[in-house]
Amino acid sequence: GIQAMIGPSILNADLSNLKFECENLLESGADYLHLDVMDGHFVPNLTFGHPVVKCLRSHIKDAFFDMHMMVDQPEKWIKDMHESGATQFTFHLETTKTPEECIRKIKETGMKVGIGIKPNTPVEQLLPFINDIDMALIMTVEPGKGGQSFMADMLPKVKFLRENFQYLNIEVDGGVGPGNVKLCSDNGANMIVAGTSIINSKNRKETISLLKQTVQD
Ligand code: DX5
Ligand code: ZN
Repeated sequence: GIQAMIGPSILNADLSNLKFECENLLESGADYLHLDVMDGHFVPNLTFGHPVVKCLRSHIKDAFFDMHMMVDQPEKWIKDMHESGATQFTFHLETTKTPEECIRKIKETGMKVGIGIKPNTPVEQLLPFINDIDMALIMTVEPGKGGQSFMADMLPKVKFLRENFQYLNIEVDGGVGPGNVKLCSDNGANMIVAGTSIINSKNRKETISLLKQTVQD
């Protein structure tokens, strides 16, 4: 299979002990950290914002922080997220009428840029922007919480993008674990988010290596 990176989502980790959790995941083999920001508007839940990212960055110097911005008006947070140490800023296509402007502002900071789409958003809507972004995020659950079931009917979106854009980073997020990670990578995903399947496992290191091994087989 293709080379894929594993990015644990810390959403269901012990959020009162975030420094430990992030360091533990990196020591367990995480290639990057997927950080879920929720604003109670775009999705019903709340998580954390740039002040927490800034604190994490002060302890964790060199990890890739993949910010999944499940927020309305994402442009409001571009500067703060950059200054707090975010590496990549992924906004949802559904949240802005001016994606080009968002992309430009994100790039101006030096952050990498991703655009995410919810399950009901057709993948074709990404096409006008696809050559200007680093990553497309295909949601494989309705954004909002961890622990939901994987929607296999999102895989054709991944396949379509991979067939047409060889060098694009394609991320899947939601319900991914050892049982379906190969489906994701075989269809072309090279950035794999896994939340509860890693966080709730008995041995995170083993689960992350199992995910990597399964992708490669
Ligand atoms: C869902 C979040 C995901 C979530 C994934 O809205 O974007 O990143 O934490 O968790 P699992 O892997 O448990 O679905
Ligand atoms: Zn996410």
